[in-house]
Order: sequence, then C-alpha cells, then structure tokens
Amino acid sequence: MLGVCYYPEHWPPTRWPTDAHLMRAAGLELVRIGEFAWSRLEPQPGVYDWDWLDRAIETLSAAGLRVILGTPTATPPAWLTHRYPEVLRVGADGRRWSHGGRRHTCPTSPAYREHCRRIVTALAERYGRHPAVIAWQIDNELGNHSTARCACPTCRAAFQQWCAQRYATLEQLNARWGTVFWSQAYSDWRQIPLPSDPVGGGHNPALALAYRRFASEANIDFLRAQTAILRALAPGRLLTTNIAPLDDEIDWHRLAAEVDVISWDNYPHGFEHPADVAFFHDLVRGLKRQPFWVMEQQPGRINWTAYNPPVPPGQVRLWTYQALAHGAEHVLFFRWRAGRVGQEQYHSGLLRHDATPAQGYHEVARLARELAEQPLPPRAPARVALLISYEDAWSVQLEPHHADFDYWRVARLIYRDFWRRGIAVDVIRRDQELDGYHQAIAVVPMLIDAADTTRWRAFVARGGHLTLTARACVRDQDLMWSDQPLPHGLSELLGAQVRQWYALPPGSQALLRRGDAEAGTTHTWIEELAINDDAQHATAPLTAQLPAYPTIAPFAPAVETRIGRGALRYLSCYPADPDAGWWSAWPDPPAPLLPPDVESVPLADGSHLLLNHGATERTPAGSAAPLTPLEVRIQPASPP
Ligand code: GAL
Ligand code: ZN
Repeated sequence: MLGVCYYPEHWPPTRWPTDAHLMRAAGLELVRIGEFAWSRLEPQPGVYDWDWLDRAIETLSAAGLRVILGTPTATPPAWLTHRYPEVLRVGADGRRWSHGGRRHTCPTSPAYREHCRRIVTALAERYGRHPAVIAWQIDNELGNHSTARCACPTCRAAFQQWCAQRYATLEQLNARWGTVFWSQAYSDWRQIPLPSDPVGGGHNPALALAYRRFASEANIDFLRAQTAILRALAPGRLLTTNIAPLDDEIDWHRLAAEVDVISWDNYPHGFEHPADVAFFHDLVRGLKRQPFWVMEQQPGRINWTAYNPPVPPGQVRLWTYQALAHGAEHVLFFRWRAGRVGQEQYHSGLLRHDATPAQGYHEVARLARELAEQPLPPRAPARVALLISYEDAWSVQLEPHHADFDYWRVARLIYRDFWRRGIAVDVIRRDQELDGYHQAIAVVPMLIDAADTTRWRAFVARGGHLTLTARACVRDQDLMWSDQPLPHGLSELLGAQVRQWYALPPGSQALLRRGDAEAGTTHTWIEELAINDDAQHATAPLTAQLPAYPTIAPFAPAVETRIGRGALRYLSCYPADPDAGWWSAWPDPPAPLLPPDVESVPLADGSHLLLNHGATERTPAGSAAPLTPLEVRIQPASPP
C-alpha cells in the first residue's frame, strides 16, 4: 500500500475531509498520524482531549483510509518537562537538554517512563480496538539526533547496575575490562564512570563499549515498555517503529526483534549515492529478514541537508519503485502538506503550502495507478550475504586507528561493488545462519565470537565462500586482544596469519600487483599476511608495496584457501576504485558493470527492474532502447 504522514493537529478540522478525499484520489490507502501530538492529547496533567483525534480518525477512515497511530513519546509536553526536569536527557558535555525540539528525553528516567506508560495506556485503551487503526508506530526515530546515549545521574546508576548484572562480580569486571591498566580497578560498582566523564588519555575501550551496549539496551527497554502495553490493549494490530538507519547508537537487530515489522525513513538526499539507499533498504530488510515498511519517503525537496538540491520530475516515483523492489511492503510519504508552522516549513509535502498538489502528489498518483495495473513482482532471493554487527561498528568507532577507517563506509563500498553489477545482496547480522548463500562477506568482524567462527567454518565446509575483511576476529567481546594467530579461530583454516597492519596516512597509497600485472591502488588500511608452512591450499593472489615506506618489503595483503568445494578468503584492503570488483569477482569471474547510475534489481520471475538514477541516457547490455533519465523499466527475462 501507499500512504502518507499527516498532522491533522496542524490544520483546521474543516480541511480534513478535503485532505482525506485528495489522499484517496491519489490512490493512497494508509495514513500515519499522532506521533508528535502529546501536548494536544494531554494539554494539562491528566486531562485528556480525545475529541480531535476521534474526529480525525473518523474522517480519515470514512474516506477509506487505514490508520497507523504513533505514540507521542518523542515530544513530551512542556508541563511535563517543566514539572519533572529529570526527564530531560543530559548530553556528553554534562549539560541537561532543554524543552523545545524533540528527543530531549532520557530513556531510563522513572518519571519519564511512568508518564509514557500513562499516555500510551490511555491512547491504547481508546484506540487499541478501533477498526481503522491497523498498526502502531512506537515513538519516532528512537536515538535520532544522537540521543540514545544519556549521561544523566539516573543513567549513570542504571549503567552501574547493568554492569553488576552483566559481570556478576567486580573481580570479573576488572578481569574482563583489564582494569589493571592505569590502575583502573574498581572496588565498588558506584566507582564506575561514564565514558563521557572528562579524563586524560581517554577511557578504557572496554568501559566505553559496555556503555554503548547499555545505552542501546536502555532504548530497547524503553520501546519494550510500550510494546507490552500495546500487545495487551491493541490485540492483532501490527507494532512497528520507524528508524533512521544512519543512526547507529541503537543495535537495530536487537530492537527489531521486539516489533512485528520494522520501518525506516528514507530520505535519499541524506546519502551520497543511490547504491547507499539500496544498501539501507537491504539492511533494514535484513533486520528481521522479512519485508519492511518505508514509514517516511522523501516527497520532493527537503530542509535538513547542507544544500537541499532540487528533486527533478520522476525522482519520487523512481525512489518508490526502488523501495518496492528492495522489499518494501508499504511506502508512506512524508509529509502530506508542506507545513506552515514550526521547524520544517522548508520541507516539501505532496501538497504545497497553499494546498495545491505538488510534483510529489502527481507522481504518487501515477505510481498508484501503475501499481494497480501491474504490481511489481517480488525480488529474487540473494545468494550473497553481507554480515554486519552494530557491536563491531561501535568497536571500530571507539578506536578507528585511522581517522578515515569507517565501518559503514567499508560496508557500503563492498555493497556498491555488487550493486554496480546488478547482483542481489542481503545485509544481515553476522550471527545468522547462512543456508542458501553462495558467498558471505563478514564486514570488519572485529569481535571474536566462538559461535560465529563455528558457523562460518561449517558454511565453508558445506561449499560456501566466506570473505573476512581487515581487522577480523582480533579482540574479545570486551575488547581484550587475542593471544592467538589472527584471525582468531580461523587462522588455521585459512592456512595463514596476519603479521602486521599498516594504517596509511592521507597521501600514502599501497600499489597492488596480481602476478606481474598492476592491480590498482588502495589507501587507508592494509595488512600483511603470511601463509603457514604446512598450508595445503592457501594462495596469495595480490602483492602490495608501500612506495612511501621503501624499506618495508613487498607483502601479501590477501590469502585465499580452497576447502573442499568451499573457500575462505582474507582480504585486508579495499580498492581505491570502487568499481574494481574485488568483492564480487570471487569465487566466480566478475559480472559486467552496469552503466553508471543504473540499478538493476533481479526479480523472482527472472525479470529485472531497471532504474536510471542519473540525468544521462544509458543503455544497459541486453536492452533494446536506452533508459531515459529517471526511467523505471521492467526488463523481461531473456529467453534461455
Ligand atoms: C524524519 C522525522 C520526521 C521529519 C523528517 C523530515 O527524520 O521522522 O518527523 O522530521 O525527518 O525530513
Ligand atoms: Zn538519562
């Protein structure tokens, strides 16, 4: 279904029927409302005003729309933050936030939790069984604006308690964190600091990682308090929450397990490249390994990037096809009408400020007609899995060791290699079963996890092809360095070990050769591997040389080992040329590159959805006619 995000509380009630009618006229079937409306629902403590929401839901449903109702906990009313200042979050600088924006609350504050419980219960009692309300969105973009980590006194105490639960004894905590270093040993849980507390030399990375885990869990627990209420009072309704996946302070895999469907807010102008949008669609689909919703889809130009460029005709339609092809079940546009009040007046809507239809309205109406005539076939299953983990990402962020070493950039570069060739990829949590995949790539799997290494060995033994990237299996779950040959737990199977890493400062590259041929350059990071003397099937496909460090002898930055029908590969660097095909060209020969800006999504019936994201005509191989700029086309399966 297609739908839209609507704020009836921003507009006179006399306007609502016209809006509802226009929504239906465009073919929209879903409408999300209510997620920031707390001060209208409870203008004074304990005094509820349901009339307007009753009437809004009636108007929308009378027009044939189905409602996704938001819980309003991202924006508490001013009376609440004023009366209970402790519900406001404290930033890393130790300052308490103010009322006036959103997400300025603390996830562990008992007062906040209690008032959230109250408003959500009241809402659910009133609308939980309403026939028009088919789903609930919990809160809005939890953790957005970098707000998942709070440094208030309640969170400090909660973190200390969390440590006591996780480590059971201080002896354990001291041992696992290595607090012998710089005399950090704790003899009372209350001595444990927050990693935002000012110190010289930085905090122990084990403490910092523990706090990140704690903060993620605190937010998930905050969400769980609402799912519990809604499951009881809104039986049979789907529970979801909308995430902004560039935010990575919450472990979305763990959060997704708590809801029925996961949704995300897709603003392609917030990304660098159309492949990044595809990456996040696939990442969100991977959170629960099931179809997802786009709760907010960019409807035209937006207001929050540095330059807010134009959105040419056809763009909104193309973005929506892209979302559907990657597994979106519903797509809702944000927002219905450009706002006349508050912070987001420069943001477009499907209607203009003056209520006339904007470009987005016409494109969405066209799209709804097209989909009614010819529904898009489902996607073809992927045979390639990118294995990711928020805990690995956090571990890299805590000590990147090279300012440009960015976990998500590595993941997106690898993803783009496949995207450029029209190869479908699943982006899934690194501990997932890998049945059905031909190839898996573990993205910077820094943390050692015995269960994962066992699963990966079994995958390779069954004929799978596993690639480990740089910095694989180096440190334990509390960031203690391994005392084994690296990659820990897989070095023997690889028949090789990592001897050394080289962080390459800006301007210093590595030159690569494959046999006698030049094989491009790389930057940022490279490792030196040595094949074990007794290794039977290990080969080193590349040789690297560091021109800026002539006394470092040429070395092998990658090793591949055949293991029966499967293989294990360690590839410690990524190419400067994102199209070089290093990731996709193994174990099979490289698939041809698509023309620049062209995406090709394989569909289950053997056809492909072709999308030209660019402003230039392009003709992909096998296409009779060129794709015009922003053209979307289903290319039928080619006859065998
Ligand atoms: C989203 C948010 C919306 C609105 C939108 C503007 O992140 O959920 O409420 O702010 O961005 O693009
Ligand atoms: Zn707090």
